[in-house]
Amino acid sequence: MKTKITEMFGIEHPIIQGGMHFVGYAEMAAAVSNAGGLGIITGLTQRSPADLANEISRCKKMTSKPIGVNLTFLPTVTTPDYPGYIQAIIDGGVKVVETAGNNPAQWLPMLHDAGIKVIHKCTSVRHSLKAQSIGCDAVSVDGFECAGHPGEDDIPNFILLPRAADELKIPFVASGGMADGRSLVAALALGADGVNMGTRFMATKEAPIHENVKQAILKATELDMTLVMRPLRNTERVLKNAAVERVMAKEKELGSKITFADIAEDVVGVYPKIMLEGQMDAGAWSCGLVAGLIHDIPTCQELVDRIMNEANGIIRERLARFAG
Ligand SMILES: Cc1cc2nc3c(=O)[nH]c(=O)nc-3n(C[C@H](O)[C@H](O)[C@H](O)COP(=O)(O)O)c2cc1C
Repeated sequence: MKTKITEMFGIEHPIIQGGMHFVGYAEMAAAVSNAGGLGIITGLTQRSPADLANEISRCKKMTSKPIGVNLTFLPTVTTPDYPGYIQAIIDGGVKVVETAGNNPAQWLPMLHDAGIKVIHKCTSVRHSLKAQSIGCDAVSVDGFECAGHPGEDDIPNFILLPRAADELKIPFVASGGMADGRSLVAALALGADGVNMGTRFMATKEAPIHENVKQAILKATELDMTLVMRPLRNTERVLKNAAVERVMAKEKELGSKITFADIAEDVVGVYPKIMLEGQMDAGAWSCGLVAGLIHDIPTCQELVDRIMNEANGIIRERLARFAG
């Protein structure tokens, strides 16, 4: 299947694995890229630019296909060495960067001069248009369904994607709630040139995370997620657990007086305990509503092949039947 996204990134299938903290290691990215999609290493999971350089080089030993690196620009306690991370990406020969969070304008010249394509993740049409105006090559339009940070507008993909299609000139992928061939065909119908998936790729054989996390995703239905940190305007969609219950109780108790420090214990530095050690109540972790559509743990190759076969089948058979 050829789309503007497969052409832009030099990949076989229009399927991207979004950056995921403590999930997007070399093994994850290589497995997705080897399956014909675009695998993405999560930059800030690596503690230093040197560690990222090492992770890119490990990944390149596992795949000769294109890979990407995610750079997330969010307020953190100490500002990461972004120029250093970008240099590691350039030196590592990576040709795609997925940016997320704050406006990436200041980093674009450095990335573009190195021949790197930039896809910026946006949760609204206005941010997508901003990304286009500053020179981003593509957008990942992340609907309200998504795992992680859906923004504060709460617009689901059935509205957000056609709105983006009506306004954008650069290509975009649909992100949030994507799981299978049906999602891909729907995304294409709504104007996207591919899909970006997070939660679905966590439940794969190669995802280098604890088995407890994969089983939690399998067990979850679409009713098991909730939003936290809305009063801080840093809304995150997470799987309900004991830590999330504590955060919600604090939010209820303190109302608009809540500060980040009040909940820090349950949201800061918790990812290694969950993703690597499988302590499922150690903190709040991002999980999408799409968990309700995830029932197995295939290899990335099996998953990508299944999505493409199903999508092609839907287009050729089911949709063709309806065409006049
Ligand atoms: C565990 C987890 C960690 C994530 N970490 C990041 C991150 O560090 N940076 C980022 O831009 N997006 C992050 N995301 C968001 C994904 O890249 C992607 O946009 C999102 O998962 C799409 O929604 P879906 O899960 O419904 O497919 C994370 C998602 C998950 C599930």
